[in-house]
Amino acid sequence: MTTAGKHRHEVFVSARDAQLHFRAGGALAAMRGKSRLIKAVDGVSFDICRGESVGLLGESGCGKTSMGRMLLKLEEATGGAVTFDGADLNTLRGEALRAFRTRAQLIFQNPFDAVNPRFTIRATLAEPLENAGVPPAEREQRIIAALELVRLPNPAEFLDRHPHQLSGGQLQRVVMARALILQPDFVVADEPVSMLDVSVRAGVLNVFRDVRDRLNLTAIYISHDLALVRYVCERTIVMYLGRIMEDGPTEDIVREPLHPYTRALVAAVPVPHPDQDHAPLPIGRGAPDPLNPPSGCVFRDRCPKAHARCAAEIPVPRQVGTRRVACHLYDEAGAAAPGKTA
Ligand SMILES: Nc1ncnc2c1ncn2[C@@H]1O[C@H](COP(=O)(O)OP(=O)(O)O)[C@@H](O)[C@H]1O
Ligand SMILES: [Mg+2]
Repeated sequence: MTTAGKHRHEVFVSARDAQLHFRAGGALAAMRGKSRLIKAVDGVSFDICRGESVGLLGESGCGKTSMGRMLLKLEEATGGAVTFDGADLNTLRGEALRAFRTRAQLIFQNPFDAVNPRFTIRATLAEPLENAGVPPAEREQRIIAALELVRLPNPAEFLDRHPHQLSGGQLQRVVMARALILQPDFVVADEPVSMLDVSVRAGVLNVFRDVRDRLNLTAIYISHDLALVRYVCERTIVMYLGRIMEDGPTEDIVREPLHPYTRALVAAVPVPHPDQDHAPLPIGRGAPDPLNPPSGCVFRDRCPKAHARCAAEIPVPRQVGTRRVACHLYDEAGAAAPGKTA
């Protein structure tokens, strides 16, 4: 059996009822008993197999970055569990934690936040190698190889430059090279092209897809934009106010979204393409208030299909055809299989 075949359905990253709750208002408010809980991630479960690319999709504030940071142990889960290659992240210590920090990497949203403006590109890329104990004599070659991997032309010419001397697209490639230089097997890319001009997005995304395939990376791609997720990921998890609304193959979701929230996201992107911005969502109000989520289904106050049960009961995700959907429209088993929804 080939390595790819062996790993095909092996669960690599998983979340089990994972929670990340923050105290709003900080320590002072907490002392006065005035703090309130922000449930950035609130009971999320999924399995991701080795080599899979999964998009995390949803409007701003729905908990995508929080979820991504928890998967990388940059935030500690406040409830439930996240596991990586069979190990519970909460219990990782010492050498196992060091190995995890090499294997799992974040590609930042804003390339200018991800690098020190006073560092040259060489120093930017040498830092993770130095931390990992790579001998100085090997570093230059590894740096050049990483920049070639992200298809930065003539990489040697960039080594002595500073971040402000690069274009946004060039700098995002450097940021990607930095995340990849230790040869991770898991990456979380948090809106990696949202700060870039639309004209250079497709180029950076192509590099991301190409590198992911060549290195057989398991990847989480975070975006508020369905067109970008569709361009990069075979599977999409749709989040709203800290919960999963729908999870399934991206093409199925685009062709026939089941959850009313997903339907709104799809309706806002008539012809999904990475080169265009999307229309406003065809549902009321802007970003929801995480401090005052509705009872029952968190989406119900914007949902055109909401009924009495939605206020009373939190819907649990159910298998509907190729997807898992958390919506009372799909409660009766088989009652609303794909193709039979209004
Ligand atoms: N460190 C934090 N402290 C308090 N609240 C936070 C913190 N990080 C995120 N939040 C809140 O959690 C919610 C989800 O945020 P985030 O994960 O950044 O969403 P997204 O990436 O989907 O825009 C938001 O209401 C945000 O204000
Ligand atoms: Mg975010």
